[in-house]
Amino acid sequence: MIFRQLFEPVSSTYTYLLGCAETGQAMLIDPVIATLERDLAELARLGLKLVYSVDTHIHADHVTSALELRKRTGSRIAAPAIDRLTCTDTGIQEGIPLRMGDVILNPLHTPGHTAGHFAYHCDDRVFTGDALLIEGCGRTDFQNGDTDTLYRSVTEKLFSLPDDCLVFPGHDYHGRRVSSIAQEKARNPRLGGRTLAEFREIMARLDLPYPIFMDYAVPANRRCGVCPEELPEDLQKYCGHMEKSPQG
Ligand SMILES: [Fe+2]
Repeated sequence: MIFRQLFEPVSSTYTYLLGCAETGQAMLIDPVIATLERDLAELARLGLKLVYSVDTHIHADHVTSALELRKRTGSRIAAPAIDRLTCTDTGIQEGIPLRMGDVILNPLHTPGHTAGHFAYHCDDRVFTGDALLIEGCGRTDFQNGDTDTLYRSVTEKLFSLPDDCLVFPGHDYHGRRVSSIAQEKARNPRLGGRTLAEFREIMARLDLPYPIFMDYAVPANRRCGVCPEELPEDLQKYCGHMEKSPQG
């Protein structure tokens, strides 16, 4: 499998490029609109044709480039079926693998950060979105998030994967790139060896600020990535490429 871990610095999001050397096909997991051109250039450099964009959930901190990628490359938009987005081409469900040449993505429903959140298990690695971060996890206080549900998703589903399974998170804010199931079981301060009662207390005490881009990002992502026409100046960097090319 051809593999690249790409970073979007405004929202500290990791986008994953997965390619099949046999067929020359590729998919992007959680692509970001601000890095659309970079991602297209990377695909071109590798000589790969994009067939799918795959989102882990409806993001609140960045805009997906799924729709722009479909316009530019003819790729299909794959997203959790449970979210019932009308712009989706392929509705993802647990138990139904997404196949692309020799790349097989096994979707795992991991609600708690959002109700419709999915992680994707692929061979020796799992793309955990915002359910499980390196020594952290996504917040559970909006978008039908639920602390008890996230605890079960991580400790019962993700922690059931093999210990040496690599963990590639949806974000990291400290420059870390990869972990493993064993490492998170041992070192994750919120979820490793914690009881549900401890996790509830930790999450209740986070006292996180309201996400500055959420009111724009969620409606944009419910349309598979349509940037709002009028953004306050300090938020325009989230839709970077649209400034240069308003017509897409
Ligand atoms: Fe998220």
